[in-house]
Amino acid sequence: MASDEMDPTRRRFLTGATTVVGGAGLLAGIVPFVNSMSVSARAQAAGAPVEADISRLEPGQKVTYEWRGKPVWVVRRTDRMLETLAKLEPQLADPDSSGSDQPPYCENPERARQDRRDVLVMEGVCTHLGCSPSYFPDAGGELGSDWLGGFFCPCHGSKYDISGRVYAGQPAPKNMPVPPHMYVSENVLLIGDDERG
Ligand code: FES
Repeated sequence: MASDEMDPTRRRFLTGATTVVGGAGLLAGIVPFVNSMSVSARAQAAGAPVEADISRLEPGQKVTYEWRGKPVWVVRRTDRMLETLAKLEPQLADPDSSGSDQPPYCENPERARQDRRDVLVMEGVCTHLGCSPSYFPDAGGELGSDWLGGFFCPCHGSKYDISGRVYAGQPAPKNMPVPPHMYVSENVLLIGDDERG
């Protein structure tokens, strides 16, 4: 199920989809809501794959989808972003992602399918205590002159590179997880399924 959040420009698109959001009002009406869910909605809640049209995702932008109740980020990275990956490896805890969670086809520096190495698909959940890190794609800025872009967890300060690989010496023990995914066409991504990939 798609949300319409997009960083860093905060431009909104992909409207029309319904976002599942918790809250007191929802809890009060949970039984009738579940009873009235369509078959496809029930399948999505149970973890069915989520289709993502990334045709309008511009280089440097991030959009968030929801899969199995977790935020899944899709980031279209620029060439500059990809060039930072090799430079940062000496500073990372697990540069090869050997102790982290991703499908075999994403065991590479980009943590992406190699026919779309510019596109990162990742669960946006910090591996320390589960906060959702913030996206800081630009070099420098408030994270310091040596920051090359990536993700920063505001809860306890863990830093990740633009592939979600955690820096050494951070509270977070592992890189952020990459879910199974595949492309059903050039710009249509299926999150949560790779059996046909
Ligand atoms: S939850 Fe992210 S650093 Fe603690």
